Amino acid sequence: QSGFVTLDTGYKNTGATKSAITFLDGEKGILKYRGYGIEELAEKASFVEVAYLLIYGNLPTEAQLADFQHQISRHTLVHEDMKKFFDGFPSKSHPMGQLSSLVCSLSSFYPESLNPNQTKEEFELTIIKLLGKMATIVSWIYKKSLGHPVIYPKNKFDYVTNFLYMTFGQRTEDVVIDPVVVNAMNQLLILHADHEQNCSTSTVRIVGSSDCNLYASISAGISALWGPLHGGANQAVIEMLEKIKDDGGDVDKWVNKAKDKNDSFRLMGFGHRVYKNFDPRAKIIKKACDDILEKLGINDPVLEIAKKLEEVALSDPYFVERKLYPNVDFYSGIIYRALGFPTEMFTVLFALGRLPGWIAQWKEMRENKEPIGRPRQIYVGEINRNFVALEKR
Ligand code: SDX
Repeated sequence: QSGFVTLDTGYKNTGATKSAITFLDGEKGILKYRGYGIEELAEKASFVEVAYLLIYGNLPTEAQLADFQHQISRHTLVHEDMKKFFDGFPSKSHPMGQLSSLVCSLSSFYPESLNPNQTKEEFELTIIKLLGKMATIVSWIYKKSLGHPVIYPKNKFDYVTNFLYMTFGQRTEDVVIDPVVVNAMNQLLILHADHEQNCSTSTVRIVGSSDCNLYASISAGISALWGPLHGGANQAVIEMLEKIKDDGGDVDKWVNKAKDKNDSFRLMGFGHRVYKNFDPRAKIIKKACDDILEKLGINDPVLEIAKKLEEVALSDPYFVERKLYPNVDFYSGIIYRALGFPTEMFTVLFALGRLPGWIAQWKEMRENKEPIGRPRQIYVGEINRNFVALEKR
């Protein structure tokens, strides 16, 4: 090495890997999973189909899809001893902290996942267990936040219906899962399923590059996603919209706050490292928002504020010059709320959608035998200092 280091804080212009999974064009606002446009996948595919596509590279045949769904259904139960971890969390602890801990703890119950040289079959099972159990863990975290008893999976249901059944089901009577809700959830999970080398995916890759196990790598990705600048933005958007509503709905005032360099306030749900055009996912979610609220007969005042905020920001030179557009998080929270989820659960739902993408990226990194991630730095600290005894400092 010549010792020559290029400083690229935040890796804004650094390609960390070669990948064949997801293509996005930030200028044109294009997003494709394994070459298929997300518009078509969101409309025509199921989330489990898209998970298979991302992880194995092709859309499954009917037989492959049936087997994949069957395998996942067989692994929806979590080990009963895991409930001791659930019980250990204070009831109002943030769902993302619980999810990250619980996913990491899976290796305690499935120690075969710790072997970096698993056979192909063993690795497939490690993946299937995570896909099956994550939905159960997410629904149990929600039930616990309400102080309600958990609902066990019913494996006659497909993946999304089963998740909604465990989440909104009651012990006392059989809840009917509205197909409108199933379709909306399916679409949202697909739209969140992968997004090339974003912060949390890069985290999953770099943790996995040390030959660390899949569960701990995904747990690290969940932690990275938690941040309000990343997946946590969907919760922050609703909190921002509520604040604007409570403040009288003066959108112009808040847009000006977001422009004021002396004010740390940012318009959550706006801007993107790669998209310098409309986030294609935001377009689909915005349309779905209108459809679902109409179908469910819900009139959510924050939706009107969101639309006004978008209109004002998109005509403001500050946002136009910086190419700041609504991103995937801007409208998603409004749909989650319409489906009955509390704000604290929004980022956990993002993680549930992103899971197959994280797994696919981790698998590709391993199959390509990529080296351990270890960036360099430019040192700007002191060079030669002599120790001074304590009494002389
Ligand atoms: C996700 O990477 C991915 O793909 C992520 C994701 C995925 O699917 O995995 O798409 C999911 O995380 C979407 C982004 C969710 N985050 C937010 O909505 C939080 C609000 N947005 C930002 O903080 C910001 O836009 C980022 C974090 C998304 C991107 O930040 P960058 O690329 O580092 O850009 P920057 O902070 O350097 O901003 C560039 C300029 C700055 O102004 P100047 O210094 O040039 O004068 O734009 C301004 C920023 O101040 N700016 C904003 C703004 N976002 C950027 N000003 C006001 N409001 C905002 N939201």
